[in-house]
Amino acid sequence: MGKVLIIGAGGVASVAIHKCCQNAEVFEEICIASRTKSKCDALKEKLEGGKTKITTAQVDANSVEELVALIQKEKPDVVLNLALPYQDLTIMDACLETKTNYVDTANYEPLDTAKFEYKWQWAYREKFEKAGITALLGSGFDPGVTGVFSAYALKHEFDEINYIDILDCNAGDHGYPFATNFNPEINIREVSAKGSYWEDGKWVETEPMEIKRVYDFPEVGKKDMYLLHHEELESLGINIPGIKRIRFFMTFGESYLTHLKCLENVGMTSIEPIEFEGKQIVPLQFLKAVLPDPASLGPRTVGKTNIGCIFQGKKDGKDKTYYLYNVCDHQECYKEVGSQAVSYTTGVPAMIGAMMLMNGTWNKPGVYNIEEFDPDPFMEALNKFGLPWKESYTPDLVD
Ligand SMILES: NC(=O)c1ccc[n+]([C@@H]2O[C@H](COP(=O)([O-])OP(=O)(O)OC[C@H]3O[C@@H](n4cnc5c(N)ncnc54)[C@H](OP(=O)(O)O)[C@@H]3O)[C@@H](O)[C@H]2O)c1
Repeated sequence: MGKVLIIGAGGVASVAIHKCCQNAEVFEEICIASRTKSKCDALKEKLEGGKTKITTAQVDANSVEELVALIQKEKPDVVLNLALPYQDLTIMDACLETKTNYVDTANYEPLDTAKFEYKWQWAYREKFEKAGITALLGSGFDPGVTGVFSAYALKHEFDEINYIDILDCNAGDHGYPFATNFNPEINIREVSAKGSYWEDGKWVETEPMEIKRVYDFPEVGKKDMYLLHHEELESLGINIPGIKRIRFFMTFGESYLTHLKCLENVGMTSIEPIEFEGKQIVPLQFLKAVLPDPASLGPRTVGKTNIGCIFQGKKDGKDKTYYLYNVCDHQECYKEVGSQAVSYTTGVPAMIGAMMLMNGTWNKPGVYNIEEFDPDPFMEALNKFGLPWKESYTPDLVD
């Protein structure tokens, strides 16, 4: 059917590329482009030989000029951005200039401020509309599937949704005292920031990890979870009518939190550059360099993830509760695509989002968050491509 240009060759990209190759009627051609071309070549070598034709390229995604030249040469139908959030705007600029559809999994963050907000990307809405191209924002798991779950619950289960609790549980054990399951820099920026939730039309801010709950996750068991700010709260707060409160909780083990606190206390998680041996370095970037590469955790991670949303609202005048979630097993993912479940649960929806634009199932020029599209074809694809969802009408609630 068409060609996708995938930018980035890290943990998430590796899964998305595997999945595109499993879906060769849609993805006839893939060009993998990243800063380090050898990583793209390694993926090509691993996956070549099937029906999908794979090529590779070197690109610095901070340069609009380089990106435009690459897109003009490769002529993809869709650009799937699986680099880092810092590159979102340059890649969107290049898509605009070349009139190419755009998909990502994480919203823009300036390099020098650990604050993710949609305002920068939403500002492109009119330009994308005029160019007749679609930007699909946040097509990972969270954001991503959590938005699709919300749209699905609203379409099929509720007249009005009033409360959403998004619960992200990773009960995987990689055997290291401290490691992150995706890009350490992005992960640590996210969890060391202040928490917040959306209530009655405004943000309520908390100290980092101030709000803790224990939840008994289906197929996983009881885990400590902490309230975090998370990007989909911003778009769901606007796109789900009748919403009164949305919160996001993520599980963390004691060892992770103790190490994180210690690293914070000694200044290793800071994003302020410091002078070291005559050179400017950013402590968090240095920390990333000494931590295990998330892509290397696959073979050693055991256990499951459980990510989902608990909805409370009204149907036919009556109160109703509904829980939609996915359980994913780290070792099963590793057997299938050579990656752990955190990369898997992001890479699969990234491929599905690109497919929705590639085959025209979703076609709405402008810049949209995932919950603004019809959820049904995406929900079907989740079942087909390895992330089957489960539902419960009597879940435990989070107080
Ligand atoms: N929505 C979700 O559920 C979810 C969950 C997890 C992650 N994510 C997002 O997924 C994205 C990828 O995460 P990951 O864990 O795969 O990260 P990763 O393993 O660090 O991979 C990032 C890739 O981007 C490349 N890159 C970085 N800067 C670049 C630049 N200027 N030009 C070209 N390529 C560049 C890197 O190249 P090098 O190898 O040269 O460094 C690397 O190949 C991140 O944006 C992350 O926030 C979303």
